[in-house]
Amino acid sequence: MGRIETIRAIETSLESRRAAAGFATTPAAPDAPAVETILDRHGRASAQIIAILQDLQEQHRYLPEPELRYISRQLDVPMTRLYAIATFYKAFRLEPRGRHEVCLCMGTACHVRGGERVKDAIERSLGVAAGETTADMRFSFETVRCLGCCGQAPVMTVDGKIYGKLDHLTVGAALESHT
Ligand code: FES
Repeated sequence: MGRIETIRAIETSLESRRAAAGFATTPAAPDAPAVETILDRHGRASAQIIAILQDLQEQHRYLPEPELRYISRQLDVPMTRLYAIATFYKAFRLEPRGRHEVCLCMGTACHVRGGERVKDAIERSLGVAAGETTADMRFSFETVRCLGCCGQAPVMTVDGKIYGKLDHLTVGAALESHT
């Protein structure tokens, strides 16, 4: 697949996922002054592209397409390279995130102590599957392998706060406390 086709394929996929999640499908204009501040901080060097993308994500909690295009033009870095970096590193996100990050452990200890039932309860409560964001942008829900506190299994975090020994009844209350 050529460069243009690759970019189109990625953007078409992102657009259909945005539409399915109820987000606007037409990206807004970039916040040029904010991107300029980031570029200047890193000496407008294409060699610093990962640090630039990290700062961009810190600002928006994902990598907005208009800002990526702006960076691509300013640094003369092809969009294919930016998308390649954004999809290679798991820490980068190309879709908007909810205000609260729900992270459920599906590691062995959590799995054997009812992690699957907790996952079902979260999905029912939020109305989205793992890997998705609620339409009201309140929550993004992810699963991970181990949160490092297996003694409290099954465990989830919301914005980094640990909720342990969960069951399908306590999950709802934990989520409701995050408005
Ligand atoms: S397996 Fe869930 S916290 Fe380690």
